Amino acid sequence: MAENYEHLLVETESDGIAVVTVNRPDKMNALNSDLLDELDQVFAGLESDTEVKAVIVTGAGDKAFVAGADIKELGQLDQKSGRDTSRKGQQIFDRIESFQKPVVAVVNGYALGGGAELAMACHIRIATDNAVFGLPEVSLGLIPGYGGTQRLPQLVGRGKALEMILSGGMIKAGEALQYGLVNKIAESGDPLNEARQMLAQMLKHGPIALSMAIQAINSAGSDNGYDVEADCFGQLCNTDDFKEGTSAFLEKRKPDFQGR
Ligand code: COA
Repeated sequence: MAENYEHLLVETESDGIAVVTVNRPDKMNALNSDLLDELDQVFAGLESDTEVKAVIVTGAGDKAFVAGADIKELGQLDQKSGRDTSRKGQQIFDRIESFQKPVVAVVNGYALGGGAELAMACHIRIATDNAVFGLPEVSLGLIPGYGGTQRLPQLVGRGKALEMILSGGMIKAGEALQYGLVNKIAESGDPLNEARQMLAQMLKHGPIALSMAIQAINSAGSDNGYDVEADCFGQLCNTDDFKEGTSAFLEKRKPDFQGR
């Protein structure tokens, strides 16, 4: 089923994978305020849609995933509206990071500034070989404001994050893979299909276990990460899916998870 927004294409496929395409190719898919609102609305809807099992995020066209926040809009900001804009972006990307079903970014070209931050908020990143990553905000007299200063060090380490953000430079897909910024580089001409294949492997497992794995991993490094892990583990022990998974193993058959 396809839904239309001004700046996004959203299509849920028969396998339960929703493909969200950022669709402003004439502006390198730059994130303006309306687009961010649509992204928020779409992810809220996909979260509660029981037909949707996972999400792929990508960019329209073959040049850009997303080339950043819309610089025309950024130019209007003052201290208060700048802080509010940063907070809004952070909250929307937090929604994606905390999404309870797997989210894969297919980074098909420039992922700069807010585009790199969007990709980092997704759970997994698959890059095409023409993908380019960078946080060029300092070249505009800014810093990353949609979570980039927090997520980049988690992915690539503090030293590399400082190098990337302070230099404002760009790196290609191979380097991004080497630093751990992406999970893999697409091997075929059909990166969306590679994302679908990766998701198919995940979706063999019970949805509650996937959701709690995301929740526990998102708590890594926080004060209560081990508590969250233990709570999630305990809750899972109380599910039918846990009983099914363990019984299926002992009975030497494939599990049939019902998401209960
Ligand atoms: N915000 C607003 N518009 C943007 C944009 C952004 N982040 N990135 C690209 N665009 C627009 C350009 O202004 C241009 O619009 P125009 O045709 O109306 O002039 C159009 O998209 C095409 O971009 P262009 O720069 O002509 O393409 P290119 O192939 O020469 O360069 C980039 C591509 C991505 C390297 C270059 O557009 C760029 O550096 N963009 C800004 C990246 C950035 O600093 N992002 C961080 C923002 S916080």
